[in-house]
Amino acid sequence: MCGIVGYVGERSALEVVMGGLRRLEYRGYDSGGVALIHEGTISSAKKAGKLLNLDAELKANPIADGTTGIGHTRWATHGAPNDRNAHPHLDSTGRIAVVHNGIIENFAALRAELEAAGHEMVSETDTETVAHLLHDELESTDDLAEAVRSVCRRLRGAFTLVICDAQRPDIVIGARRNSPLVVGRGKGENFLGSDVAAFIEYTRDAIELGQDQVVTITRDDVVVTDFFGEPAETKEYHVDWDVSAAEKGGFDWFMLKEIDEQPQAVADTLLGRHSIDGLLQLDEMRLSDDELREVDKVIVVAAGTSFYAAMVAKYAIEHWTRIPCEVELASEFRYRDPILDRSTLVVTISQSGETMDTLMAIRYARQQRARVLSICNTNGSTIPRESDAVIYTHAGPEVAVASTKGFLAQVTACYLLALYFAQIKGVKYGDEIASIIGELEKTPTGIQRMLDEADQVRKLAAELSGSRSILFLGRHVGYPVALEGALKLKELAYIHAEGFAAGELKHGPIAVIEEGLPVFVIVPPRGRDQLQEKTVSNIQEIRARGARTIVLAEDGDDDVVPYSDHLIRLPRVPTLLQPLVATVPLQIFASEFASQLGHDVDQPRNLAKSVTVE
Ligand code: AGP
Repeated sequence: MCGIVGYVGERSALEVVMGGLRRLEYRGYDSGGVALIHEGTISSAKKAGKLLNLDAELKANPIADGTTGIGHTRWATHGAPNDRNAHPHLDSTGRIAVVHNGIIENFAALRAELEAAGHEMVSETDTETVAHLLHDELESTDDLAEAVRSVCRRLRGAFTLVICDAQRPDIVIGARRNSPLVVGRGKGENFLGSDVAAFIEYTRDAIELGQDQVVTITRDDVVVTDFFGEPAETKEYHVDWDVSAAEKGGFDWFMLKEIDEQPQAVADTLLGRHSIDGLLQLDEMRLSDDELREVDKVIVVAAGTSFYAAMVAKYAIEHWTRIPCEVELASEFRYRDPILDRSTLVVTISQSGETMDTLMAIRYARQQRARVLSICNTNGSTIPRESDAVIYTHAGPEVAVASTKGFLAQVTACYLLALYFAQIKGVKYGDEIASIIGELEKTPTGIQRMLDEADQVRKLAAELSGSRSILFLGRHVGYPVALEGALKLKELAYIHAEGFAAGELKHGPIAVIEEGLPVFVIVPPRGRDQLQEKTVSNIQEIRARGARTIVLAEDGDDDVVPYSDHLIRLPRVPTLLQPLVATVPLQIFASEFASQLGHDVDQPRNLAKSVTVE
């Protein structure tokens, strides 16, 4: 989950690399560094902490610039986040510079071998071993790309490596396994980046790199091989995000901008997927209808917020398609010996497309011959590439660590998948599907209303900002919403926040209710299995014990009024679609609560946007 930039061209490499790192800082911000090639030598600087520290270092101690360079922002895995462990790492001659994202699992043995051969390591990182290994390889070959391939063949684990060599000022080399790297194609210049935000200011023409590939970029060429030097297949694509989409757009935080973008994110995810003849068409669905008809069990696998989208998917898939559906945490999935076969469809959900827990779950599922479909927001990322089929959400770049529009877009894609299944299984008629799609297409208006009415929620957050514990209750699809609301608050405010199924309260959690304890309750729409009535009873129970009740209930539901200390009205939507509107106030509450505490809303402590280690 580090940020990586590589550049070869005619511009100031320092300017290009630092600009790219700033747009990648959300990927990790324990430390940062750059290495530039200037007249046959490497000039480099690195500093612990956020990029501001590196900027200050470069101002205080300027380094020689060039037109070739690499850079890195780090989320520490091996070695504390300090200056010494910051990337880039050099070989002992200072000729080779390496930046790395991932974990080299056999680095200890490699390090021991190098030290036994007289190499002196100056850091605790796994990355530094690569610089020394390259040094040794270059004693027996003049070809830097071949040296990189030879080293890659010795590495195990996950790595994106970007390398420059003082004696080869016109090239930068990248290599990847299980970790992200994309190429940006310019005119008279080329770029490497952990994602397209690294170079989007200069070009939106990108090349997706596959597993175990090495790429050599010069000003005019891009050459991609496998780890054995054979030419490799690549896929060019055009990035439809522009620079402004990667900036804050006038908001204080990326998270606020992304919350505000949610009506568009849901609308864009629905766009073009419902043909005029009333049939759903999921263009990236690379599994045939016959293959999908064979599916007799679905297991939805994800992590964090995406796992809560998976929980919503379960309700939709089982209700609309009558196919059994399980939900599993990605980090638990493959260790429980799940029962998978060719008729199992494993659906993974990932905003970044790089979450290692989820990627490893995919590999396990495919080894068990299950088919894999991914719901993902990041084109060119690893998870879609390793899936049999993908449904891309179209939420646009999500920069804030706390996922918001990514979540709503995921939930939308889950509904589409469930309806698509119902369509090809023939368990719903076209008009029934069209009716649900019609309700879905109204939800951006309901989401926009939640944004327009956000002031009441921000005021409430200010009022409650002294709280040290807040609970969230929900039933049915309101239960994953309660869990997501709690996670948002935990992530951003660093306080105790917990979500419960409202029906579980009497089985223990009600013991924690005390005078003044704030409790959010998401009340289901009326008219379904008495869900609403039972939830109103839960509100009465906690209110009787002194809780301060913050109730989210649909327009017209007056049963809740006598028991609500604060009432947030929701637009009336079908039961299954309520997460699309009910989640928004909880996102706004958490972001405002964190702002009140003076926290960094975009980069909460201890977290990174994409967790690419297990
Ligand atoms: C959500 O706000 C968190 N940032 C985190 O739980 C995230 O959802 C999780 O790490 C999964 O990420 P992914 O969707 O990119 O796979």
